[in-house]
Amino acid sequence: MNQVLIKTELLCKSFISDGEINNVIKNLDLEIYKGDFTVIMGSSGSGKSTLLYSLSGMDHVTTGKVMFEDKDITKMKEKEIAYLRKEKLGFVFQGINLIPNLTVYENILSPTYKTDASRNKIEEKIDDLLERMELTSQKKKFPNQMSGGQKQRVAICRALINNPSILFADEPTGALNSSQGQNVLDIFTNINREGQSVVMVTHDLKAALRGNRIIYLKDGRIDGDIRLDEYNEETALEREENVYHFLKEKGW
Ligand SMILES: Nc1ncnc2c1ncn2[C@@H]1O[C@H](COP(=O)(O)OP(=O)(O)OP(=O)(O)O)[C@@H](O)[C@H]1O
Ligand SMILES: [Mg+2]
Repeated sequence: MNQVLIKTELLCKSFISDGEINNVIKNLDLEIYKGDFTVIMGSSGSGKSTLLYSLSGMDHVTTGKVMFEDKDITKMKEKEIAYLRKEKLGFVFQGINLIPNLTVYENILSPTYKTDASRNKIEEKIDDLLERMELTSQKKKFPNQMSGGQKQRVAICRALINNPSILFADEPTGALNSSQGQNVLDIFTNINREGQSVVMVTHDLKAALRGNRIIYLKDGRIDGDIRLDEYNEETALEREENVYHFLKEKGW
């Protein structure tokens, strides 16, 4: 039986703009399982980013519950949620938000302040992440001295530095070329194999194939939900065809 890590109950998120209500997430009941590499797809504006913000406690929900390991994060105090974010959650969001007056190294280091991880281990981990992301030579640079793809990769290093139990990534390969994108996905696949859960929004079929579950969002509701656990290396092609047909059927 899969263990539930995050569970939403009748989750709604609405925005008001120009006096009109825009109901983006509509009564969503969703379970995210521990150890899964969950992929969220859907057309532009279907609510994927909004859902990720709600699942990770980054934004207040309008109504409904979001349970993280049996605790309702919509009811948590700011301090409690800040602790959760720092200790258990990692984020890579659309539109990179590095701290402009900190170097690459300092940006990646920043989530480790006030944690009890040893400084040596952290240094080692930063060097390892920088190398894997081909950023070693950029260590002392500031965000405004780097390309969009480089900043994206720094944001990924920063999200991974505290070994989050769950990593949320919103189109993490969007700003990257194909080989850099593969590198990032390889890292996600590796951390997932080591037991960390991943929830990733993507528009890209290749990226989606890294998941073992794909959820299709349409107008703020779940329109499709498939698992890919039964495939193995020998049936990889079949797996790809299954995903492709699933997405085509959904109008992707
Ligand atoms: N902060 C906000 N204020 C007002 N409306 C918002 C806000 N954030 C999102 N929306 C609206 O919510 C809807 C869903 O947006 P969201 O960013 O979740 O879509 P998405 O599925 O991630 O799209 P994309 O694939 O283009 O990233 C859109 O209509 C958008 O205009
Ligand atoms: Mg989005």
